Amino acid sequence: MDIYLVGGAVRDGRLGIPVKDRDWVVVGATPEAMKHRGFRQVGADFPVFLHPKTGEEYALARTERKQGRGYHGFTVYSAPDVTLEEDLKRRDLTINAMAEHEDGTLVDPFNGLTDLAQKTLRHVSEAFAEDPLRILRTARFAARFHPLGFTICADTMALMREMIGSGELQHLVPERVWQEVQRALHEQSPTVFFKVLHELGALDILMPELADTERFEAGLQALECISTQNSTTAQRFSALLSALPEPEARARAIAMKSPNDCRDLTRLVCLFTDWLSQYTDSTLPPEAMLEMFDHADLWRRPERFEQLVTALACTPYKQHVGPLNSAAESARDVSPQELLKQGFKGKELGNAIRNERLGRITLALAP
Ligand code: CTP
Repeated sequence: MDIYLVGGAVRDGRLGIPVKDRDWVVVGATPEAMKHRGFRQVGADFPVFLHPKTGEEYALARTERKQGRGYHGFTVYSAPDVTLEEDLKRRDLTINAMAEHEDGTLVDPFNGLTDLAQKTLRHVSEAFAEDPLRILRTARFAARFHPLGFTICADTMALMREMIGSGELQHLVPERVWQEVQRALHEQSPTVFFKVLHELGALDILMPELADTERFEAGLQALECISTQNSTTAQRFSALLSALPEPEARARAIAMKSPNDCRDLTRLVCLFTDWLSQYTDSTLPPEAMLEMFDHADLWRRPERFEQLVTALACTPYKQHVGPLNSAAESARDVSPQELLKQGFKGKELGNAIRNERLGRITLALAP
């Protein structure tokens, strides 16, 4: 059997950037031969094995034929007669379809090395179209390698447009889309991911609320700003949706099956931007601010509030962030224990806390 390093590890190695995971392809072997060598099979009928010592993935060379629509419905064919070239041909991009033999020789039937040098993201073959997730992957690689000068070649853009035109994206399950979006939000240039999808018309299907030019531009600006900071997925996602009315943003976050922290922060960011947009040229009224602090549950969720204001600092309402912060800091200092000691109870205690908080907010906002 022959063993080759493949995929991202070869690509990143040649780019001179740190290699994260190493994936291997084994040619000329059977599952029995692999198990005999101590490899552990992953999954019942998929020809992927884990190395007994390193835990790295070793896949038997395979071809994949599409049977149905969407991401499901692949027939995997794996046998000792499947060649390395056949295995590489079913892959997405030429830069991901290079292999390195154990002895260091590069096997590059689809000229991935040339595309690396020319900074081009190009599909390997028509088989690209068999997996609509690759549209998102390609946009994600464009986002990752944008600072290095990579772009998607015109042929691949055209092929992706064709795929989208024939309704392929509708067949992707939300979980897979979210996984790509989540990863894209943390790539080097996350905005490039969404720009590519917008250009392809894919956003109309995946995040239609964002396809409108004004909302899109505002979302991208906020994302650009937040992604220069050490921010969470929730902050990045909510910045992207920050120009949407809250009900639409919330519905999209749910439909995309984003995790709860992303949904919560998106809801808050949009509630706050809706609210702040009324006061572009004026100071914020203390009563309304206290109500918003209650909405955000500032009292029990101070870290989330901090995430919220950091995201708001990336929206057109950033001038309100200073006052929001100082008012929040003062209001949080109110001690219910102290008021209890003073004899307040039940509803009266609630009112006293509220009044005290309001007083401090008013003071904090005074010029
Ligand atoms: N691949 C593919 N089509 C997919 C997913 C994966 O062709 N939908 C192939 C590519 O050759 C890719 C390899 O499988 O290089 C490994 O996939 P993955 O680990 O997801 O990506 P990497 O290229 O290793 O990139 P990353 O650095 O993001 O892990």
